[in-house]
Amino acid sequence: MFGPGRIKRTLWMMLVLVAVYIIGHVVMLTIDYSETNINTAIAQVKNLGMNQQQQQQQQQHNDRQQVKSLGTIYSSIPKPVLPPVLSSTSSPLLVLVLSSMPRSGSTFLTELLTNVGNSITFYEPLWILQKKPQCNSDSHCVSKFLEEIFTCSFDEHFENWLKSKALFFQYFSADAKACTEMSDKKGKKDCAKRLNLKHDCELAQIRFMKVIRARLGWMESLLEDPTVNLKIIHLARDPRGSINSIRKFKWDNEPLSRCSDLENDMDSFDSFQERFPSKVIQVNYEELCTHPIEVTSNMLGFITGDSSVPDNIRHFLTNHTTNSVSNHVMSTFKESKKQFEAWRYQIPASLLKNVENEPTCLSSIKRLHHTVFGSKENVVNSSIPLLLGGD
Ligand SMILES: *[C@@H]1O[C@H](CO)[C@@H](O)[C@H](O)[C@H]1NC(C)=O
Ligand SMILES: *[C@@H]1O[C@H](CO)[C@@H](O)[C@H](O)[C@H]1NC(C)=O
Repeated sequence: MFGPGRIKRTLWMMLVLVAVYIIGHVVMLTIDYSETNINTAIAQVKNLGMNQQQQQQQQQHNDRQQVKSLGTIYSSIPKPVLPPVLSSTSSPLLVLVLSSMPRSGSTFLTELLTNVGNSITFYEPLWILQKKPQCNSDSHCVSKFLEEIFTCSFDEHFENWLKSKALFFQYFSADAKACTEMSDKKGKKDCAKRLNLKHDCELAQIRFMKVIRARLGWMESLLEDPTVNLKIIHLARDPRGSINSIRKFKWDNEPLSRCSDLENDMDSFDSFQERFPSKVIQVNYEELCTHPIEVTSNMLGFITGDSSVPDNIRHFLTNHTTNSVSNHVMSTFKESKKQFEAWRYQIPASLLKNVENEPTCLSSIKRLHHTVFGSKENVVNSSIPLLLGGD
């Protein structure tokens, strides 16, 4: 029964099966690569070339570099997790930038993140809820609203509102920015009208959102939901800096209410960091200004798993943290240093006193490892550093 002809036929069949299997794999890989962005593909290829031990060594090296160059807050940041954008089948990554107070550098951080490839950005969508006071202070209502925006299920009303608000719309995408930069009013309007935000939202692998009108604790249910691929960047700044700036905008600068929001978010952050270590990160505005590349690298690692800082983001940081084109670390430090602690030379003595004498604010200042100045003389004395334990 098992003559030579039969064996030959069996061998042929096996050969065909193996060939089909290999071709199938190559096709799948090709599809995979064409669907992920080029940076990710390059990172994949780099990683394929490394064995596990090399990857671990690389990781440990990166971690040591980061810890060495960063201050106290950064040493507690969890290791970057595997990139969720690697697989074309995984759901899009949702990244929420939540700032505890206005005037904390959230626009700068948002603008920086718009440079991350294949992403769109919702800038301050909660603004539209101001007219719905029964929703904007209700944690369930707010998190439900944010989820709708994040999953591109927003209605026409929202889309029209966003398109009409150039200040917010410019961050949505490069196309949106181009529309807002057009010189004539009608051209601007027609250009925005042609964009399909839902469609662009659905295609984006990373969807960023920046809010200053929600508490971090309200995001608990979204973080718990295994079907929501959410990461949160909590942005914190010295309350004296934010409140001094808020004062100039003539917004409510009452220290207790402002600092309560910050304290509340810092408490939520501590708890979330225990429960969802790969989903939350805290970024301190002062650290971002003094160590822009390191902090950005850490954030990118957190977001995509790849902590290398691409050239366009390096250029952005150089442009925004220095006045000169120089890449020199010291010039970056000097220029951004002026910016992040400029408040020290502007804050009225009475406001400094009010903020530092408010126990809630005092607690936040200490948790951020910043100096409590105690007097106008000290706050303007540049030999007294604001950041303790850093540089
Ligand atoms: C940075 O500034 C240079 C020179 O002004 C400019 O050509 C470049 O486009 C800027 N890059 C970014 C990312 O802002
Ligand atoms: C500034 O602070 C330093 C260090 O505490 C102190 O030695 C110096 O006298 C202060 N300068 C003024 C003008 O108060």
